[in-house]
Amino acid sequence: MAESVTITDNRTGESVEIPITNGGVDAAQWSKLLPGVWFFDPSFSTTAAASSSITELDGENGILRYGGYPIEQLAENSSYLEVAYLLLHGELPTAAEFEVWEHDITYHTFIHENVRKRFMEGFHHDAHPMGIMVSTLAALSTFYPNAKDIDDPEVRYKQIIRLIAKMPTIAAGAHRHSVGMPFVYPDNNLDFCSNFLSMMWKVAEPHYEADPVLSRALDVLFILHADHEQNCSTTAMRVVGSSHADPYSATAAAAAALYGPRHGGANEAVIRMLTEIGSIDNVEAFISDVKAGKGRLQGFGHRVYKNYDPRAKIIKQTAYDVFEVTGKSPLLDIALKLEEVALNDDYFVSRKLYPNVDFYSGLIYQAMDFPMEMFTVLFAIPRVSGWLAHWQEMLDQNSRIARPRQLYAGPAVRDYVPVEAR
Ligand code: ACO
Repeated sequence: MAESVTITDNRTGESVEIPITNGGVDAAQWSKLLPGVWFFDPSFSTTAAASSSITELDGENGILRYGGYPIEQLAENSSYLEVAYLLLHGELPTAAEFEVWEHDITYHTFIHENVRKRFMEGFHHDAHPMGIMVSTLAALSTFYPNAKDIDDPEVRYKQIIRLIAKMPTIAAGAHRHSVGMPFVYPDNNLDFCSNFLSMMWKVAEPHYEADPVLSRALDVLFILHADHEQNCSTTAMRVVGSSHADPYSATAAAAAALYGPRHGGANEAVIRMLTEIGSIDNVEAFISDVKAGKGRLQGFGHRVYKNYDPRAKIIKQTAYDVFEVTGKSPLLDIALKLEEVALNDDYFVSRKLYPNVDFYSGLIYQAMDFPMEMFTVLFAIPRVSGWLAHWQEMLDQNSRIARPRQLYAGPAVRDYVPVEAR
């Protein structure tokens, strides 16, 4: 059977045969036959916007791999920094490569004092930390003006290191500001996650020692959130990056996309939902309301996964490890009951709605004492490595500026009417 598609323009009878390559057909070839006819796909549901070697996602079968490595194996054996290297280089680092990588990131965790003192402290005390993070990322572009030199490999590498390294510092700084606690400087003796926990929670002790179980749980969550191919925020990164904006501006745009409740904001929505439900006795009634169109079951459903999100499975196990240390979240029983009811209900089964990564992550963050406003920030910290990997790949592919077409549906040409005649 030919691995191709033939399209016929019935207005002219002309046909064109296009090969199916790597699961896709080249739209440029179709448009040769159909000048002025556009593919209408407003949410890009059926459009492959890139050819990418970074992450493989098979939503029908619940498969996620970074650089060919199954997410389950990476979560079990790897660390977030190693995964970040893998996403950006396409290969796992050797011991020597990792040493340099870890050193470079550890030694770029500090942020300019003006960013912290004058910029971050200028926000109102109740500013959402995600708003602070988005703005601070954009502001960094003004501190590193040579970041615009995106074609220089050394300059590019430096910004990648800086962004990965400074995310936890910005995140913790945003939190400390919101609770009126003094800023904690990075500690270069600590690993990536323990350093972040120190910047979050240190009070008067000379050295904050994170619980190793909690530090490892965070590392696992960072691995799971590091990349997810062409999602909304990564698409924002690629689109803004395609204009050759500097990486700080593009990352700020990606973080802004992540902020929304349909994307990285969903774990916050899950906790609000579970709190509102209040008791497992109310689960059935809540599910009935969802089925009647009164709101959505937060943390369920996914544009691409039509099966159990493999990250949700790993997170569920991590939740139990965390609860061993912190004590069980009172909301866990409601979450488990919701999952059980939904997975046995035809409404959810027929629509292939399964728990996604956010269904259990909020419970872990809450058990670790992170305020709800920090949940999306926690998602953004590791996702920056995925955004940057896609940004770098797009630049290496020499992509053209992203510029879709539209189907114009407004009024036909008409003459201007003076205001007194309207
Ligand atoms: N609860 C109830 N019904 C749902 C849900 C849900 N969570 N998600 C989808 N549906 C229903 C829709 O109402 C629709 O039903 P219909 O065919 O009868 O109209 C059908 O399932 C298909 O839904 P769409 O909205 O077309 O799915 P889409 O791919 O556009 O949306 C999304 C995906 C945004 C993730 C959606 O499932 C949702 O809103 N989920 C809740 C929020 C959430 O958990 N987001 C996190 C996503 S993961 C991430 O970004 C990390």
